[in-house]
Amino acid sequence: MNIAINEVAPRDGLQGEKRFVTTEDKVRFINQLSKMNFDRIEVTSFTSPKAIPALADAADVMASIQRNPRIIYSALIPNFRGAERAIEAGVDELNLVMSASETHNLTNLRMTREQSFGQIETICHLAASNGVAVNVSLSCAFGCPMEGEVLMNDIVTWVRRLAGLQVMGISLCDTTGMAFPNQVSELFSRCQDEEPNGVFTAHFHNTRGMGLTNILAAIDAGIRSFDTSLGGIGGCPYAPGATGNVSTEDVVHLLNCMGYDTGLKVDDLVQISRWLSPLLEYGVQSHITKAGPRWKSHPVPDDFEEIRSRAMGREIS
Ligand code: COA
Ligand code: ZN
Repeated sequence: MNIAINEVAPRDGLQGEKRFVTTEDKVRFINQLSKMNFDRIEVTSFTSPKAIPALADAADVMASIQRNPRIIYSALIPNFRGAERAIEAGVDELNLVMSASETHNLTNLRMTREQSFGQIETICHLAASNGVAVNVSLSCAFGCPMEGEVLMNDIVTWVRRLAGLQVMGISLCDTTGMAFPNQVSELFSRCQDEEPNGVFTAHFHNTRGMGLTNILAAIDAGIRSFDTSLGGIGGCPYAPGATGNVSTEDVVHLLNCMGYDTGLKVDDLVQISRWLSPLLEYGVQSHITKAGPRWKSHPVPDDFEEIRSRAMGREIS
């Protein structure tokens, strides 16, 4: 079974990074990712440089990367101005963002949800007339760090309204790692029942260590597209307590072990993750980059032969 992986580290991963990653290093990073079989790479965001200073060089990054024609290059867009800038920069797909939580939408985007929906509607017309695809990411779909529970019925209503705008896909985002497996399967099942032709993506953060179990629950519910971030870096600077996304190498390692085909090689991902780590304030966070994959054996201790001959010469009753 094929699973599509969308690499979001250049955007979600770097958006809150305290140490500025230079434009040249961002381009080097994305060019390495472009050699892998990702479905998408979320290159950057066209947000206000005051809100997200780490990605203030969005247009320069877009202009400098070498694109792989098999990969869709997307960018996160908060408003109409961002959409105009992204289209001018030659982005393949606009990833429009709004939050399922009114409080998070206000803190993150300085708009009510209705105002964001209005922007999304206008941007859809702009994108269509420019032949650019649109995905919508619905933040806090599994809970809000300020409001708490977000009603499933409300999520399904937003999904119905967004699908009515003919967007290419909808991502349900667990912005601060509040999702848990049975909630994941119920929500995705309900959304797919509501919109049987909808293309859904799951976007999990590993804030409470539930990211990988949520991935499996989403696969069981029929989801075949996932946002992941190399090194497990990331998080929304306007969502209190947010930490990194599920790590690409951890997810690919898990899926490879289970026999799913992602088209990606763990060793290649680990190599890029190790390259990225020193550029970041806290380095990368993934398990697999630290521990190595399960098929990587460690050498035996230096005194192993001594241990063996001692054991052979002993009688153990
Ligand atoms: N790109 C670049 N500049 C933008 C912009 C965009 N998409 N949108 C607004 N601006 C600029 C305006 O031109 C204005 O500039 P000025 O002060 O030089 O005149 C300034 O930002 C304020 O504009 P305004 O429309 O009042 O925006 P705001 O301050 O209400 O902020 C957002 C609204 C949406 C632009 C801002 O909150 C934002 O970019 N949020 C993104 C948050 C995010 O990415 N979170 C993580 C991902 S979930
Ligand atoms: Zn995220």
